Amino acid sequence: MRLAARITGVGAYLPDRILTNADFERMVETDDAWIVERTGIRERHIAAGHETTSTMGAEAARRALVTAGIEATDLDLIVTGTCTPDGLFPAAATLIQHQIGATHAGTFDVNAACTGFLSAFSVATNFIAAGQAERALVVGAETLSRIVDWTDRGTCVLFGDGAGAVVVERAPEGERGGVDAMVLRADGAQAPLLYSQGPCSADALSHEAKIIMDGRNVFRHAVTAMADASSEALRRAGLTADDLALAVPHQANLRIITAVADRLGMPMERVFVNVDRTGNTSSATIPIALAEAVAGGRLAAGDRVLLTAFGGGLTWGALVLEWAGVRVPAAVRMPTGALVASPSA
Ligand code: UT7
Repeated sequence: MRLAARITGVGAYLPDRILTNADFERMVETDDAWIVERTGIRERHIAAGHETTSTMGAEAARRALVTAGIEATDLDLIVTGTCTPDGLFPAAATLIQHQIGATHAGTFDVNAACTGFLSAFSVATNFIAAGQAERALVVGAETLSRIVDWTDRGTCVLFGDGAGAVVVERAPEGERGGVDAMVLRADGAQAPLLYSQGPCSADALSHEAKIIMDGRNVFRHAVTAMADASSEALRRAGLTADDLALAVPHQANLRIITAVADRLGMPMERVFVNVDRTGNTSSATIPIALAEAVAGGRLAAGDRVLLTAFGGGLTWGALVLEWAGVRVPAAVRMPTGALVASPSA
């Protein structure tokens, strides 16, 4: 069943500090050529000491509200996809609610690792379709630099920090925009392939929160899972890859993205890629990419868009949307795509 909930605003925030591959050459046994060839990543943004998932999420949210042309007080729901909230509680969404002044919104976080944004978006669109909310903010935000093992060259070069946000509103009958199909899946038996323990884990005193990953096996699962979920979402929507104006996949590794596109028969011209500049920001990759796609004029009203993600859990999923069109006011239509630039830029 089509959900009458559509994206009306997008925004993103990337912290100022950039770590390049050359910086990693000074930290671990690696080199720029290996990182670029195996991952496509050239640089990633790293949060400043005072920044957190909620502060970055709030900044992305402010931009999304501007593009939607609504106030924070118009929101009745905020859902944040994150696996690196500021603390165990309150939820990052609750801290974002306070920072943006969304005084009429209910709040909670969704943790599905890198599938967090798709999961949070699915919750919000279902709230709207069920008549339980009118205007929702969905944030994907992560401060992965705080749980990266900076001595593990197999993982530390992959991740970055950042936040993206979308405003979702009811699509009036007969108007453009909506969710054509959504597929969410998980296989908790594969948890040992990619996880981070925390203060509530068994024997917690012996565990530090850090990302542990079997990269090769995660890679294999990622390609099959995203391609299969995308095919199923397209089938349920009654569409084929040829009907898609743009695919916005989770940005973990350029090789994963090209392998998924290949399986779907999508030419790379219609696949959004920014992993070279952001690294893997987990739940934040898709909303950051959406904000960049809008800023770059790559989405038009009526376009069909595929979103697909994969992450720890293992979790994965895919959504097919009809794009409603996001108006970018002149105030935020600045050089270098100010929808995503940091406030100081
Ligand atoms: O958001 C979803 C979560 N994560 C992912 O999607 C990541 C999925 N996995 C991957 O992206 C890839 O598996 C990696 C980029 C992590 C690794 O690429 P790979 O082609 O699978 O390499 P590998 O793990 O098979 O390692 C190949 C070699 C190894 O050396 P030996 O054993 O062949 O001597 C590694 O030790 O590359 C070595 N290596 C490195 N060399 C230089 C691993 N990391 C590095 C590094 N620099 N940073």
